[in-house]
Amino acid sequence: MTKLGVNIDHVATIRQARRTFEPDPVTAASLAILGGADIITVHLREDRRHIQDRDVRLLRETVFTKLNLEMSLAREIVDIAREIKPEKVTFVPEKRQEITTEGGLDVVSQKKILGDIVKRFRDDGILVSFFIDPEEDQISASKDVGAHYIELHTGNYAHANDDISKGKMIEKLQRGLNTAQKLGLQVNAGHGLTYQNVGLFVESLKVEELHIGHSIVSRAVFVGIQKAVSEMKELIFRHDLTRKP
Ligand code: PXP
Repeated sequence: MTKLGVNIDHVATIRQARRTFEPDPVTAASLAILGGADIITVHLREDRRHIQDRDVRLLRETVFTKLNLEMSLAREIVDIAREIKPEKVTFVPEKRQEITTEGGLDVVSQKKILGDIVKRFRDDGILVSFFIDPEEDQISASKDVGAHYIELHTGNYAHANDDISKGKMIEKLQRGLNTAQKLGLQVNAGHGLTYQNVGLFVESLKVEELHIGHSIVSRAVFVGIQKAVSEMKELIFRHDLTRKP
């Protein structure tokens, strides 16, 4: 079954709004795991707007499922990641002005630097994923530089507001998935997925992992994070069973 990675950055966003000690994303991670999260994801941004270094260190000690660290190519963050040793790192583009990650990583124009960094992580035994748009050149460049996984950017699917555009985006993501699988890449997906739009996605595409953050943390404000995660797991499970062959 498709695994669920829960991104808990926005628990830290609430804490950082007051620069206090609560709510603690480390506690959120433990409860998310009790709710069925297969993976805990955090993004250690260069500007430290939500997740802090201390969070990543404590999560490494307490997350007994899998830890996925989203990150830019910044030297300082690469050094922290190699010291912490999460099970997986996911490279994302990062801009200070953006509210959240906007587009996919441009692998094509950064092949040399990405190749060097990927080699270091591979030598450390850490899995490497690239968050990319479902474009053929980005997918084959990801393979060329040694990524184990790609994470397909689902933002355009999530933001499509009619069935025809949604269908087109699903087809595009499906083509990306096929290309990646032919090259031997493992495929994840995420960004902008919600309780409302995850069903159609899961019915249409078989990916390894879905990475979902904002929608789960938003529901958690009302029902608690353990319940919010188990409701998302249940949705994925139900729609997995109805996937078209
Ligand atoms: N995947 C990646 C690579 C991301 O950068 C994010 C956002 O931090 C997500 C998934 C989760 O997106 P959302 O918060 O919209 O569910």
